[in-house]
Amino acid sequence: MACKKQGVLFSGTKEQEDALKKVISELKGTKGALMPIMQKAQDIYGYLPIEVQTMISDETGIPLEKIYGVATFYAQFALQPKGKYQVSVCLGTACYVKGSGEIYNKLVELLGITNGECTPDGKFSLDSCRCVGACGLAPVMMINGEVYGRLTPDDVPGILAKYE
Ligand code: FES
Repeated sequence: MACKKQGVLFSGTKEQEDALKKVISELKGTKGALMPIMQKAQDIYGYLPIEVQTMISDETGIPLEKIYGVATFYAQFALQPKGKYQVSVCLGTACYVKGSGEIYNKLVELLGITNGECTPDGKFSLDSCRCVGACGLAPVMMINGEVYGRLTPDDVPGILAKYE
């Protein structure tokens, strides 16, 4: 899915909308249905822009403020789409003490985006994550599941260039 910064028009398809309405009609009225509805909506659209939250609110009668509150509170929900290449920096303890904060800052500087955002061309999105079980390689970052370890900030431009 093309990824756009906030403020660019959301474009969902009729199929996506129908799929969301079907999910809601199946779950509506069940206790605790909001989280599963939001999870399915994210599966359908890839993220939860305000337009999708509004659809959920309209269909369920749950106030938009409540849906927005849930969407922003839980890390599993993304308010912005992911990039073609999803960059994730491990900020777990082992990586952090080995300087993953500097790797992260270098990415912020080079990509011009920060946590949870995506570049305007849709190419890269940036996130941080907890320990990914590769502490021996600390500090670690991943791009679409590919692991890069023992990094210094100077390694970052060369790695990003592979994805140009
Ligand atoms: S803390 Fe980063 S891989 Fe374990």
